[in-house]
Amino acid sequence: MHDYNELKTLFRDVPKPFSFIDLDEIDRNIDHVLDHSQDKKIRIATKSIRNISVLKYLKSMLAHNYNGLMTFHIEESLYLLDNGFEHCLMGYPQKISKDQALRLKTFSKNNKKIVLMIDSIEQLQQLESLGEEIDFNFDICIDIDLSLKLPGLVFGVLRSPLRELGAFEKLFNYIKNSKRLKLNGIMGYEAQIAGVTDYSQKGFLFDCIISWLKRVSTKKIYSLRENVVNLAKSYFGELEFINGGGSGSLEMSCADKSIDEITVGSGFYCSHLFDKYKNPFSPSCFYAVEVSRKNQDNVFTLHGGGYIASGSCDLLKHPEIYLPNSLVPSKNEMFGEVQSPVISKEKIKLELGDPVFLRHAKAGELMERFNKVYIIKEMKIIDTWSTYRGDGQCIL
Ligand SMILES: Cc1ncc(COP(=O)(O)O)c(C=O)c1O
Repeated sequence: MHDYNELKTLFRDVPKPFSFIDLDEIDRNIDHVLDHSQDKKIRIATKSIRNISVLKYLKSMLAHNYNGLMTFHIEESLYLLDNGFEHCLMGYPQKISKDQALRLKTFSKNNKKIVLMIDSIEQLQQLESLGEEIDFNFDICIDIDLSLKLPGLVFGVLRSPLRELGAFEKLFNYIKNSKRLKLNGIMGYEAQIAGVTDYSQKGFLFDCIISWLKRVSTKKIYSLRENVVNLAKSYFGELEFINGGGSGSLEMSCADKSIDEITVGSGFYCSHLFDKYKNPFSPSCFYAVEVSRKNQDNVFTLHGGGYIASGSCDLLKHPEIYLPNSLVPSKNEMFGEVQSPVISKEKIKLELGDPVFLRHAKAGELMERFNKVYIIKEMKIIDTWSTYRGDGQCIL
């Protein structure tokens, strides 16, 4: 953990609000990923980074363990290819236009690739006819539904409809008979392990139930992923990649022999949701707002700060105060769009204009709030790096 006064001194001339990344902590998280990834390659989830310089830094530090990007939009993927990246796996299906497909075709002449995510025959038909129209062969990846279905409960996400081997056979037959489609990979994302925290605010019993559901789910995940991969290999031979996992399932996913790469994004910044897993990462990405009013001796109002994360609306999605750590948000108002009252549990001296440092619940979303982030190393500001937003990219 940083020291409040050191951070305050370091950023004394920087106008608030601002965000910053501590590269020493990012390095610690890279080591953490490499220590746990065994023989798996790493694919970086761009939605959780949203900053080209950070992506380049991660790519260079992961070196031969790096295996491309997992992107979230075709325009974003094209923008990344244009900025020096070579291999994007679109993590989410999207209908692409003729213009986008033509731009992709141009990049493919320089061996740059976007692998498109697929989960239905309808998507295959659309790509096949687009391929015929522009004389281009598409690289594709199939998404497996790894959720656990119990009576009255879906433990997982509602994304891909593909969960029976028969459904995969239909898709494989279609692809095998197509001149325009090539199956490059299979993805199975175990959202109920990677995206569900081990420690919640709902109490010990709830956490025990989640832990039990995760254990039950793991067996099913390993066996379905293995069966689908074996079936795919019986049709197409070795594929380019088999992808699984996320920051929250590092160990469980890396123990699966049927995948050869794991996706990691959020773990590098370690937004505060990622403290709530066994074996956590180190926080490396923060933002600061200033004290703008003193309401009482121990009650202050911050100027802004209410960056709430997406997903189901609960308290976990609010920011967390990092420093000074005696501060808590006011329960009535929480974090507001322009004002956020905070209360100190102990006597504290804060002047108007002093910074308060916070952490976002989700990693990439913070980058949509700032044009640039300050980069610190060994407690010195060494650079500022433009975010997607700073590059003028408003994607999703
Ligand atoms: C398809 C897919 N893979 C992997 C991940 C993991 O990303 P992260 O490491 O940023 O949590 C996600 C996150 O939602 C995802 O949707």
